[in-house]
Formats: sequence, structure tokens, C-alpha cells
Amino acid sequence: MSAPPFNDRFLRACRRQPVDRTPVWFMRQAGRYQPEYRRLRERYDLLTLCKTPELAVQVTLLPVYQMEVDAAILFADIMLPLEPMGAPFRFEAGVGPVLERPIRSAEDVERLRPLEPEADLPFVLEAIRLLRRELQVPLIGFAGAPFTLASYLIEGGPSRAFTQTKALLYREPALAHRLLERLTEAIIAYLKAQARAGAQALQIFDSWVGCLGPSDYRTFVLPHMRRLFAELRGAGVPLIHFGVNTGGLLPLMQEAGGDVIGVDWRVGLDWAWERLGYRTAIQGNLDPALLLGPWERVEQRALEVLDQADGRPGHIFNLGHGVLPQTPPDTLRRLATLIHERTERPTTR
Ligand code: CP3
Repeated sequence: MSAPPFNDRFLRACRRQPVDRTPVWFMRQAGRYQPEYRRLRERYDLLTLCKTPELAVQVTLLPVYQMEVDAAILFADIMLPLEPMGAPFRFEAGVGPVLERPIRSAEDVERLRPLEPEADLPFVLEAIRLLRRELQVPLIGFAGAPFTLASYLIEGGPSRAFTQTKALLYREPALAHRLLERLTEAIIAYLKAQARAGAQALQIFDSWVGCLGPSDYRTFVLPHMRRLFAELRGAGVPLIHFGVNTGGLLPLMQEAGGDVIGVDWRVGLDWAWERLGYRTAIQGNLDPALLLGPWERVEQRALEVLDQADGRPGHIFNLGHGVLPQTPPDTLRRLATLIHERTERPTTR
């Protein structure tokens, strides 16, 4: 029997090339909504799953074997690079990542070490190499964006208003820039290493940048993101630029860079794409909470997203944020199938 052919519709859509069906994958497609994942988590904590390549591979593959997803995303976490940089943290159940010592002073920032991905995070790169031998769909590597990582370092954990982060930006802009610069350098090195190990696309999660207004984005975030995307262009893989609550920032995010911009459900996909002038591919944007309701509504709203994409090349179907732990696995599976069925079209390659 010959191996199934490699499914490249996700990579083609990243480049806005025509596809036979709209590609689908889901942020957090591996996670607590899966009984298999929950069983593994009874035996291993989250960091052990991330740091043991065989386990990270197993978890990454779960959704790929269970659903018609057109991409795999490496099982890891945006927090991983912080520990070797000198900012240890733990995952607290019901809370999220919690830093041992939040970063507030110039000395704290100066103490951060540059990241050496091969030496510091070998397990991530090994997981990528192992996955590439298994997968018939593209593998997405990822990292947190400098601002989002800085917000964890400064707040010391998850936050709603990001008050301390903003206070640092406004009170000590030079220090804030130095912190963001160090994180930018670390993330560039980390993502380049992931691409060298075999990641076929890279997603940059600036999950919390939507707390900023456009003028603060321009002052504090844009220069670092521009540099990050410029340096990663040489990696030769599509770059996905994602954030939550970023309706007012989309043109600036596009200016920063990325072949694909990820949007959440707070904006219409059509509105967002128009604002982007159709010059980049778009990823999104169903509200993950819809999947907690009846199938009929999921279907209706998913078809609405497809209508808004209007068959243009360059739409990657996804949720607007990660799959919620309460999601019925079968609803997610049906959604992936629905997108494929309703977008089937002839292509001339
Ligand atoms: O399937 C995938 O998407 C890949 C795995 C992945 C994880 N984290 C594993 C994880 C990815 C891509 C991430 C990225 C991540 N991590 C982000 C950016 C994406 C986003 O959600 O905006 C952020 C902000 C983090 C930081 C983080 N990690 C938080 C806030 C939490 C706790 C919140 C929660 O969902 O419980 C984590 C823990 C975490 N990382 C889990 C998973 C599957 C939770 C599951 C567990 O405890 O086993």
C-alpha cells in the first residue's frame, strides 16, 4: 500500500493559492476536551507532556487521527522559553501560568539570559523532528509574541486589565522596550530553530495585545513585531500572526507582518478581511463557545463564516480562539467535516 499523499491545502491557503477545499485546523485542537488527553494528564503534568518528545508527539497526533484537520500544531506552550531565560513558572490548575518572580525592575530585565534553543529547549525540536516522520499534514510551530510574554512576566500570571504591564510601558518606556527587545531576540531564535527542525508554518500568538489601543501598539509593539517578522521571513515558511480582540489593530498587525492574520469572532471575517485589503490570508473565526450549544447553530454560524470568506483564496477556517475544555469532541469533528463538504471545489493546479 502506498502512503497517502501529503495534504498541502493549508500551506497553499497560507500563500493565497487556490485549494480543493477550505483548510481547517483548531487552536487547542489537542487538550482537555479529549478523554484521551485527560487520561494522559492523570499520569503526567502539563510540563512533563511538553518536555517529553514522545508524549508531546502522541498528544499532537490525537486530533490529527480523530478529525479531518489539515494541519497539526506542535504540543507545547508559549511559556516554555521563559524558564531557560531565567524566569521559572508553574501551571496552576484553574489559574494558568504563574511566574515565581514577576519582572518589574531594570535588574530583573538585565538578568534575563539570551535563549539558545538547541541547548535550552531540545525536547521541542526533537518533537518536531519526530512529528515530521509521522505526519501527512503540515506541522505548525509556534511561539508567544514579545508583548504577550512580557505581560506574563510583568503581571506574574494571567490578567484581565494588564494594568501593571501598561504601567511599565508608560512609566518606564525605555525599560519596557529593553524587555520587549530581549524577548523578540529569544523568539526569533526559537522560531528559526523550529523551522530548521522541520516546522512548516509558524504561528505567533500575540494573544493579549488587544488590550492596547492603536497608538500604544504603534509605539511599543510594532517596532519589535516588524523586526520579528522581517527576520523570520528568511525561514521560508508561512507566518501566522494571531491575537484576540484586535479589531482596531488589524492594519497595524498587518504592517508588522505575517502571511496570515488570525482574527477572533468579535469582528466579522468579511469586515476584517476588507480592512486587510485582501493582501494577506485570513484565519478564523468561529466563537469557540458556539460549540457548547446545539449543532444546528454551530452549522449555521460556520456557514456564515464561509459566506463571509466568499470563496476567496486564502481563508483558513479556525475558531477565533482555543477549543474550550467543555467542547464535545463530536461537535468539533462534525465541524471539520462540514467545512470540507461545503467548500469542495474543482482546482486547476
Ligand atoms: O493544541 C494546541 O493548540 C497546541 C498546544 C498549546 C498549548 N498552549 C497547550 C496548553 C498552545 C498553542 C498553547 C499556546 C498558549 N499558551 C497561549 C496562546 C494561545 C491562547 O490561548 O491565546 C497562551 C496564552 C498560553 C498560556 C497558557 N497555557 C494559559 C493561559 C494556560 C491556562 C489556561 C487554560 O487553557 O487552562 C495554559 C495551559 C495549557 N497550555 C493547556 C494546554 C492544553 C491547558 C491544559 C492542561 O492543563 O492540561
